[in-house]
Amino acid sequence: MILSTILLTAFASAVIGVNTRGSYAPDKVPCPENASFIRDAADLSSMEKEWITKRHERTDQELKRFLEGVSLQDFDAGEFIDSLERSINIGLSFSGGSYRAMFNGAGQFAALDSRTEGAEAHGLGGLLQASTYLSGLSGGNWLTGTLIMNNWSSVPDLLDSDEIWNLENPKLHFGGDNLTLIQERWKLLKSQVDEKAEAGFHTSLTDPWGRQMSYQFFGTGDDGAISLRFSDMRDIDAFKDAEMPFPFSIALSGYPDSKNVSLESTVIEFNPFEMGSWDPSLFAFTDLKYLGSNVSNGVPVSDICIEGFDNVGFVLGTSSNVFNEFPLNTSRWGNLTPQAIHNFLGDNFDEYYDVGVYKPNPFRESEHGSQRSLLDDDGLYLVDGGWDLQNIPLAPMLLPERGVDVLFAFDNSFDTEDTFPNGTAIGATYDRQFLEQGQRLPFPYVPSSKTILKHELNSKPLFLGCNASNMTDLSSVPPLVVYIPNVAYTTWSNTSGYKVAYSNEERNALIQNGFEAATRFNLTIDPNWKKCVGCSIIRRSQERNGIEQSEECSKCFQEYCWNGEEYTGDDVVLNRSLNYTSSSLSKYF
Ligand SMILES: *[C@@H]1O[C@H](CO)[C@@H](O)[C@H](O)[C@H]1NC(C)=O
Ligand SMILES: *[C@@H]1O[C@H](CO)[C@@H](O)[C@H](O)[C@H]1NC(C)=O
Ligand SMILES: *[C@@H]1O[C@H](CO)[C@@H](O)[C@H](O)[C@H]1NC(C)=O
Ligand SMILES: *[C@@H]1O[C@H](CO)[C@@H](O)[C@H](O)[C@H]1NC(C)=O
Ligand SMILES: *[C@@H]1O[C@H](CO)[C@@H](O)[C@H](O)[C@H]1NC(C)=O
Ligand SMILES: *[C@@H]1O[C@H](CO)[C@@H](O)[C@H](O)[C@H]1NC(C)=O
Ligand SMILES: *[C@@H]1O[C@H](CO)[C@@H](O)[C@H](O)[C@H]1NC(C)=O
Ligand SMILES: *[C@@H]1O[C@H](CO)[C@@H](O)[C@H](O)[C@H]1NC(C)=O
Ligand SMILES: *[C@@H]1O[C@H](CO)[C@@H](O)[C@H](O)[C@H]1NC(C)=O
Ligand SMILES: *[C@@H]1O[C@H](CO)[C@@H](O)[C@H](O)[C@H]1NC(C)=O
Ligand SMILES: *[C@@H]1O[C@H](CO)[C@@H](O)[C@H](O)[C@H]1NC(C)=O
Ligand SMILES: *[C@@H]1O[C@H](CO)[C@@H](O)[C@H](O)[C@H]1NC(C)=O
Repeated sequence: MILSTILLTAFASAVIGVNTRGSYAPDKVPCPENASFIRDAADLSSMEKEWITKRHERTDQELKRFLEGVSLQDFDAGEFIDSLERSINIGLSFSGGSYRAMFNGAGQFAALDSRTEGAEAHGLGGLLQASTYLSGLSGGNWLTGTLIMNNWSSVPDLLDSDEIWNLENPKLHFGGDNLTLIQERWKLLKSQVDEKAEAGFHTSLTDPWGRQMSYQFFGTGDDGAISLRFSDMRDIDAFKDAEMPFPFSIALSGYPDSKNVSLESTVIEFNPFEMGSWDPSLFAFTDLKYLGSNVSNGVPVSDICIEGFDNVGFVLGTSSNVFNEFPLNTSRWGNLTPQAIHNFLGDNFDEYYDVGVYKPNPFRESEHGSQRSLLDDDGLYLVDGGWDLQNIPLAPMLLPERGVDVLFAFDNSFDTEDTFPNGTAIGATYDRQFLEQGQRLPFPYVPSSKTILKHELNSKPLFLGCNASNMTDLSSVPPLVVYIPNVAYTTWSNTSGYKVAYSNEERNALIQNGFEAATRFNLTIDPNWKKCVGCSIIRRSQERNGIEQSEECSKCFQEYCWNGEEYTGDDVVLNRSLNYTSSSLSKYF
């Protein structure tokens, strides 16, 4: 219902051409006059800059409210914020990790949202409202994409809808034993995707995958958001009024049928206005709305352009390749092996079944960027944003031009034997800055995963880059990073990545646990946690202005900053016992 209204609004505001909403096929429209869709990546877009100015008017006020709420010692929030040379920028990043990341992430997100009941009293309510940027990757992108495209819904409101994130519906998950049902489902998805193929576009498994996920994220009405576009975000009230943070989705440029993805791969950013990369290999952005148009160096090769290629399910699917999220396991997929799916989908499907095919290449013959193979190819091939191990979408937050002061990194990755995170995702981002591709994106030092396991640094939030003057070897001062790992409190929140069916009860338990993980068990383990978050937010501004930290904040930093002790031995306990026991629960209540 919400969705159909957005669609209507978007429909009414379509400016050019005849809009054939209702089909998965992109539309042919006349090109704008003298169009050139690409630009180099030397700076932020003017659209983003303008939008952020508007957002800051809100975040300044919301941050005052948040900081007043935590009543820091010797600190006048209003006076402090008003005295700053620029607004404080808070970034929030949600990791990949399949449904598990989506649901744990939903709880973590809810804990920051003043719209969630209890978030102000025993959570970090208001932090979301004070944030400038928000990013998601793979499962974390399903989370942010679902909330944004459902009219910037809160998590509790979304769950009330009963249609969205309801994986009890056997039609809506990929597993299941009923082969008839699975085949019926694929037939439907195929018929939808065929419309795109018939309009002359290459398709791959990412298309039906994105279609299927759309029914889970946007409801079964309106044909599962069949023609909802990523760029429709621009028409959502909360975006127009800058009531939400500026969102990013992340994918990687890979090559057809190849898993040769590494930290050198090109990190692709989607934001409401543009898609492209800050990396030297590509170093360009293009207008998202005209993806699918055949261009040379960004200039259309004919009078006919394309709109609607940026289907939202397709973009979310691109960020999360199916066989990455639900690794191939034939007993889980019934008889549907990738080859069988490929055969079933038939000739209209590209030979590359596990990449998102963006063809024509929006960066074809671009004069920007250094990797000719990327720029001379007819297509751009994108894969899951987490394949290079950077499973938290931090890259957009590290660009110095965005000036992020504090970055909350929510990690729901599968790392340890019992599939809790061990810091590999942030370690990869630290490493990348020393490669040519990552030079522009500084990140504070991350201890080894051995150290993280040995010292149980993944059992509670961890601050990294606490002291800016300690990082003079980096290209510029990175944000202070608040790393918040998945920790089990009231349920085993380390559910398997193979799990494709969740009861609503299991789902809600993960969401609740996410809330608890973000809040140090609803502020019971450390009643000062919210204060400490306040201290982390103001730290970079204090450093820039030579203001000393209060005793209270300094205590927080002793509690949460990494102490610099690296562990080099081999005595690492891989399966830690967690605080999920009835006795530890009763200790807190
Ligand atoms: C979206 O939510 C806002 C409130 O945040 C409401 O005013 C508006 O009517 C909603 N729009 C749609 C299309 O439901
Ligand atoms: C397009 O280019 C032509 C020729 O350079 C120019 O006369 C015209 O004003 C341009 N139109 C727009 C909308 O910029
Ligand atoms: C923590 O707070 C959330 C949100 O208010 C609530 O749903 C959850 O039950 C609380 N957890 C415990 C253990 O009380
Ligand atoms: C399998 O799915 C089909 C199609 O929806 C349905 O008619 C049939 O009853 C299902 N079989 C079982 C055993 O549930
Ligand atoms: C994989 O990529 C690396 C650079 O990222 C390159 O050096 C290597 O040749 C590639 N390997 C294959 C098999 O394509
Ligand atoms: C596939 O899934 C089945 C059912 O859960 C499991 O028993 C089996 O170990 C899995 N196989 C692989 C190769 O992971
Ligand atoms: C785009 O246009 C160029 C030049 O006209 C042509 O060679 C190329 O095949 C077209 N690409 C696609 C994917 O249609
Ligand atoms: C941490 O997790 C990664 C997988 O993401 C694994 O390769 C690595 O061995 C783990 N580290 C330790 C010390 O177990
Ligand atoms: C979750 O963690 C517990 C405790 O280590 C472990 O027993 C369980 O197997 C883990 N679950 C998964 C799916 O890895
Ligand atoms: C587990 O409980 C102990 C006290 O029993 C506490 O020191 C530790 O911080 C808790 N770990 C987590 C993951 O919260
Ligand atoms: C930060 O690092 C600098 C240089 O290492 C050191 O002089 C200073 O005492 C540190 N500040 C704090 C608060 O630890
Ligand atoms: C900060 O820098 C000092 C001096 O180089 C060093 O001794 C200390 O270990 C560093 N602290 C951290 C947390 O990196």
